[in-house]
Amino acid sequence: MLRPVEWRIASMAAVVLFAVSCVQRAGSDAGFAAAQPREDAWRWDLPAGFPEPVVPADNPMSVAKVELGRRLFYDPRLSSTGEVSCATCHRQELAFTDGRARAEGATGELHSRSAMSLANVAYGASLTWADPGLSTLEEQALVPLLNEHPVEMGVAGNEERILAALREDAEYAASFRDVFPGDAAIDLRNVVRAIAAFERTMLSGDSPYDRLVFGGEMDALSRSAWSGMELFFSERLACSECHSGFTLSGPVRFVGAESVEPTFHNTGLYDLDGYGAYPAEDPGLVLRTGEARHMGAFRAPTLRNIALTGPYMHDGSVGTLDEALQHYAAGGRTIPAGPVAGDGSRNPLKSPKIRGFELDADERAALLEFLEALTDPGLVTDPALSDPRATLPSGPGRSTRAASE
Ligand code: HEC
Ligand code: HEC
Repeated sequence: MLRPVEWRIASMAAVVLFAVSCVQRAGSDAGFAAAQPREDAWRWDLPAGFPEPVVPADNPMSVAKVELGRRLFYDPRLSSTGEVSCATCHRQELAFTDGRARAEGATGELHSRSAMSLANVAYGASLTWADPGLSTLEEQALVPLLNEHPVEMGVAGNEERILAALREDAEYAASFRDVFPGDAAIDLRNVVRAIAAFERTMLSGDSPYDRLVFGGEMDALSRSAWSGMELFFSERLACSECHSGFTLSGPVRFVGAESVEPTFHNTGLYDLDGYGAYPAEDPGLVLRTGEARHMGAFRAPTLRNIALTGPYMHDGSVGTLDEALQHYAAGGRTIPAGPVAGDGSRNPLKSPKIRGFELDADERAALLEFLEALTDPGLVTDPALSDPRATLPSGPGRSTRAASE
């Protein structure tokens, strides 16, 4: 039998070898398929080990487009009240979430769901908490702009007024001409193309965990975080069976990858009636598919930067990471009283991977430390992802991420 320290080294080597093989595979795939238009000289500056994101053929990347998208992402004129931008609910310092349990739109209406982190959103095989049909950032951006149930930015019904305000802005007029030659209309189609290009540069891959796995820095994690990593990847806890791959999320797409189906899971957060009912406000995937067995199923969101993105779960009903661990350890959440009372661990629609497990105090601390080691300080401070109104007029300087060299 291996002594604990030998086992630790063996499993460490396994993790690193696995990571290296991913890097090599991704690298060669990307190399073969990197057929980007050359005229705008776009060059990805990807975190070590990250493959090249898929970009729709009709919306190629360019430096100027990303910069325009950045301005639009932070522009509150894109709302009925002139007060709400994408960044209202996706704040850089919170890894592009909003710190609220449930998002609040321009009219004060509460969304049924919690705003999601946009870190590495370029890779999602499906977007949002539970929609297998939504796969491009261009399409997705129209949702908050136009949504009426609930109102998020409130553009629907106000399109002409809002677009007229953008058209009067000489800087926008010049940028749209530059970015979309021959098709420079300041309309929603071009607005979302630019925003999507900016979102594709929101890459996050410089956490202590990455420095270990992709950078080979053996001391990037504390001993405790290292044990937490072993627990995370263990069969007993099974976290990595759903929060998997380099995004620690559901299935990903990238250049050269085989196409994958999005996946959704019921983690047993609720069971209102003994038959698996979730609160009517948000039953999850069943809303899209109409299939009863999809009640309570949601996408496994990214765990990158998770220490910054609480409260947790699709409805923000889990306040802390410690509470999230209690939920998993119990194999589902029990809510003793109130309108959503029930024993989620007995939810018949729950994923078989949510089995419950014992965790002693040291293990719990270790796992929390590992989750904290998934925070990438670069993402939340990168000037290229920040509000340009705060950094201009010194010029739209680009920093290291996704720079064109
Ligand atoms: C009112 C708050 C709010 C605003 C404003 C908002 N979002 Fe979101 N965003 C959310 C919520 C809530 C979700 C989860 C939606 C769902 O699951 O149905 C989300 C999800 C997303 C996702 C999916 C992330 C993933 O990992 O799948 C993307 C991308 C996104 N938003 C981009 C944007 C863009 C671009 C804008 C501006 C055009 C924007 N959002 C404006 C609240 C907001
Ligand atoms: C069966 C697949 C599955 C397994 C196994 C799993 N998760 Fe999850 N995880 C999910 C899904 C799905 C969600 C979203 C659930 C919801 O909102 O209803 C989630 C949400 C989370 C969240 C909240 C994320 C956020 O942005 O709100 C955390 C934290 C988390 N999981 C950690 C873990 C840890 C730690 C483990 C191992 C102990 C684990 N998960 C095991 C599927 C899984």
